Amino acid sequence: MSSWNQNTIHSDLRLFVDLTEELLRIEEEQPVAEYLEISDLSTKLDLHLPDEPSLDQELVDELKRLIHYTPKTASKMFFNQLFGGRHGKAMLGDLLAVVLNNSMYTYKAGGPQIQIEKELTEKIASMLGWGEDSLGTLAPGGSMTNLMGMLMARDAKFPDAVEEGMSTRGIVYTSQASHYSIQKNAAFAGIGRAQVRAIATNAKGRMDTKKLKTQIQNDIAAGLTPMLVNATAGTTVLGAFDPFEEIADICQAHEIWMHVDGAYCGSALLSKRYRHLISGAERADSFTLNAHKMLRTPLSCSLIIVKDKKHLYHSFSSDASYLYQTHDDDMNPGKISLQCGRRNDALKFWCLWKSIGTSGLEEMVDHQFDLAAKAREYVRDHPDYTLYSHDDTVSVCFNYKDIPAELLCNSLYEQSEIMVGFGSFREDTFVRLVTINSGNSHQDLQDFFAHLEAFAKKHLEVSVS
Ligand SMILES: Cc1ncc(COP(=O)(O)O)c(C=O)c1O
Repeated sequence: MSSWNQNTIHSDLRLFVDLTEELLRIEEEQPVAEYLEISDLSTKLDLHLPDEPSLDQELVDELKRLIHYTPKTASKMFFNQLFGGRHGKAMLGDLLAVVLNNSMYTYKAGGPQIQIEKELTEKIASMLGWGEDSLGTLAPGGSMTNLMGMLMARDAKFPDAVEEGMSTRGIVYTSQASHYSIQKNAAFAGIGRAQVRAIATNAKGRMDTKKLKTQIQNDIAAGLTPMLVNATAGTTVLGAFDPFEEIADICQAHEIWMHVDGAYCGSALLSKRYRHLISGAERADSFTLNAHKMLRTPLSCSLIIVKDKKHLYHSFSSDASYLYQTHDDDMNPGKISLQCGRRNDALKFWCLWKSIGTSGLEEMVDHQFDLAAKAREYVRDHPDYTLYSHDDTVSVCFNYKDIPAELLCNSLYEQSEIMVGFGSFREDTFVRLVTINSGNSHQDLQDFFAHLEAFAKKHLEVSVS
């Protein structure tokens, strides 16, 4: 039999386990992968695609090299972006989703997996206090669930836009500290980047609602139509929470759609201790939450919940007789989806939730806030550090001595010591440490600082002074 047609699933699964064991061992021994210059990619790895089959052993050796050089995002030294860590049960759910390989558009193709997705979105809706009219779905990442929120806002204000396209300018409001997907999505949605008003923030990075109100009034006076306010629960750099109650009042007064981008820290919803941070978010029309950020679920797992499901149907439903052949729309979520074929991103989150319960998720969230509080305390108490971020968030932004953040972060990366990034707010640029990996302990955070200080002393302090 030709190699393309051999059934190797059992041996491939055993190989998968072996490779994973090796990855876990390497991750422990060398938490930051050996730095690989782009110019060395073709000499250290054989990534070209051959015309003829590879020998099994050649493929295995190549996969091992690939694992060696690939960044280790679940290691104790990965703080680079707003995801990280690995939970066995979430991983298990994701692996099963790969093997089952359902597409989440119809009950016929997804079976009980469709109900799993509904259980997740209904549970989050009920935590927001939203009733039977609410509905949710998943899309590949927070940028995309934010796009869905924007499209519904557009179509709620301009119901004909779905058929006719946009003929009037609709204005979007978002804070200067919000995620760049808002501008990008405005371009995708035919709204245009120029129609996005970047509202100034206060010193803590929260949207200034006085400025929001003034901008809306100015736009109305100019004959424009305010359409969407995007409020952020956890801004990308400082991890700030916008004042949702005040924003909800403004949206209500002007009949503007309110979307909460909780991609980063919307999971505060699950915590009795930190839920107050998103107080007022329940007054929004739509809410995004990424389980792949605070909830240690593999990429990607982003949910959008909508208070009134009619908007999901209005913006996303299209008939396709070759696809929707059985069951009601209710169990055919392709009718409320951005996509056609859609990966099952629900099972991993459901598997995690089922195994550790809501109380486990709550502890996970609380632990991240605790880690950040301890890290902030360390930075505050240590004269060589300057703190830039604020209490009650999981971003800890600082500078160490007078070493430029960019130099420090890039040197730590290139010398395979720590993966951590830098960010800016107003005139300051600083290291952004995120305590998003709830698998980390307080000791791991102490190790981070000790490591950083030892590295700076050895490699940077002389060159900077
Ligand atoms: C506030 C915020 N919104 C949206 C996103 C985009 O999420 P994703 O990376 O899942 O597209 C991010 C990503 O970091 C974010 O910080």
